[in-house]
Amino acid sequence: MMSLKYHQMNSGIIKTVILSLSMIVMAATPVANAGDGARGEKLAQTCLGCHGAPGLRNPGPVYNVPMIGGQHQDYIVAALQAYRSKQRGHGTMQAAAANLSDQDMADIGAYFQQMAGNTRPSRVDPEQAKAGQQESAICQSCHGPTGDGENTAYPKLAGQYENYLVQALKDYRSGERNNAIMAGFAAPLRIGQIEKLAAWFASQDGGLSAPQSNIFKK
Ligand code: HEC
Ligand code: HEC
Repeated sequence: MMSLKYHQMNSGIIKTVILSLSMIVMAATPVANAGDGARGEKLAQTCLGCHGAPGLRNPGPVYNVPMIGGQHQDYIVAALQAYRSKQRGHGTMQAAAANLSDQDMADIGAYFQQMAGNTRPSRVDPEQAKAGQQESAICQSCHGPTGDGENTAYPKLAGQYENYLVQALKDYRSGERNNAIMAGFAAPLRIGQIEKLAAWFASQDGGLSAPQSNIFKK
């Protein structure tokens, strides 16, 4: 590629050729498993009983089953792997993930990722949300300003259920949910701050949805 680049300086035509060549090379380079959304849709039918039922609650502690429509595929895979290995606690989800292969997870992730986000996020106390926005500066580098971040390593938070966000932050803080990065960010938070942050991210649109119907972005 170095010698090609040299010629690029001399001719616009060669530049175009090189551009097309490098695009072909990029297209041929195997990316992290892109997943097959159509296969994922079939595998995910059993999941929709909970994740496709808006407002359905976990029996105890009580919080809404998280929305995963529109979530990053990479995060969905990481979460499912953590349940499968029992690194992340939750009996029902451990059972749901137990028999999924890495390919199944990639396909399921591709299916949920392509869903449109929430256009009607939860109603929250606007004062709380405003205060949460001020608290959220430290979170933005990873999750994005409204929790609808592009970096696929970090879960989207925008439009997620407020009570699930509270639960997740409490679980990181107590160590119930074990993640080195989030443990550090959650540890200093007081409950009031957790509630404000949850109100902020829950009230943002875009982001996540509970897929009642198959509305695709693409
Ligand atoms: C009986 C209801 C139920 C079923 C069925 C179910 N889930 Fe879940 N799922 C939950 C609950 C409750 C949580 C939150 C658990 C926790 O707090 O860790 C969750 C969490 C998740 C998460 C992590 C979300 C996040 O934001 O961290 C993913 C991903 C997920 N489920 C995918 C699936 C897939 C894929 C299936 C089907 C193979 C499935 N679930 C089946 C109830 C369910
Ligand atoms: C350095 C990057 C980084 C920063 C900064 C950060 N997070 Fe996170 N966050 C992560 C990662 C990585 C995860 C996924 C961890 C896991 O797998 O459990 C996560 C997960 C979460 C979750 C759980 C989402 C879900 O679907 O279960 C919440 C809620 C959350 N973060 C809120 C926050 C808040 C609020 C802040 C600011 C106080 C913050 N994060 C700052 C990286 C970050």
